[in-house]
Amino acid sequence: MIIVRNKRDLRRERQKQSGKVVFVPTMGALHAGHQALMECARREAGSEGLVIVSIFVNPTQFDRAEDLENYPSTFKQDLAVCEAAGVDLVFAPLADEIYEGDSSVVVTESMLSTTLCGARRPGHFDGVCTVVLKLYNLTHPDVMVFGKKDFQQVAVIQRMVRDLDLPVEILPVETVREENGLALSSRNTRLSSEAYAEAPSIYATLQQCARELQGGAMEPAEILGRFEEVFQELQTETRIDYVELVDAETMQPLTEFGSKDAILAVAVFFDDIRLIDHITVQTP
Ligand code: PAJ
Repeated sequence: MIIVRNKRDLRRERQKQSGKVVFVPTMGALHAGHQALMECARREAGSEGLVIVSIFVNPTQFDRAEDLENYPSTFKQDLAVCEAAGVDLVFAPLADEIYEGDSSVVVTESMLSTTLCGARRPGHFDGVCTVVLKLYNLTHPDVMVFGKKDFQQVAVIQRMVRDLDLPVEILPVETVREENGLALSSRNTRLSSEAYAEAPSIYATLQQCARELQGGAMEPAEILGRFEEVFQELQTETRIDYVELVDAETMQPLTEFGSKDAILAVAVFFDDIRLIDHITVQTP
């Protein structure tokens, strides 16, 4: 496995490759969710192809300085995860390698990113789109792999690829969860033991609401109340950022359920750690 730290070396390594190139962008602090993406990339590239992983904590997508400062960094372990997953090339640049001090061009998606995380985290998806496009231009992959855990991110990237005619396939991979349902996240390592023990209630409540919505036993307007009830019972201090039922294609809020598949999405602070999760609610 080759590790490169700057754009010049990355371009040089990339140019040596004529076979299929599959790219997995990450911010490090790698866990089994990231590993699943890399394994999928390896299968997709085949034994002859090139699997590239980037490890870069992109400062422009953080709306809270505190979140950026506390973002976990486990570089040595990350390299071991990449190696075990059969990655060929790791690109791990420093921030000033990626951004010019006076950079002044940003990619803005202006429809799908107006709700959910996009509405609560100003500039977040501008940061994501811009860095993903830059990384795309540096790696020129045939396929880019993303996790469905961040389903709004996948939708926004797919829109960017469509609207900017990027010749690349986007491959979304299922969310990897703990046995108790908690979605794996780099931020889970920052939870207190109490919060970690109580965080599976997020997915459990999503599942319960999905069942009741499908069975007609719950209206969309009752969802928030249900989450408030559940979280009130916990020892951990929680604050709901949003709980929304949205159209799976447009990301716009739905006040009624029944005519098409929807996504029930939640973002909640457990102490000061923001966790997100979602579930697809299929029409009966
Ligand atoms: P990061 O949060 O490190 O996630 C990297 C990739 O791993 C994303 O595609 C994310 O959806 C996926 N992922 C995270 N947790 C997962 C889980 N439990 N199961 C499956 N996939 C999971 O997302 C980013 O970084 C950044 O926004 C990035 C795209 C790298 C741009 O900076």
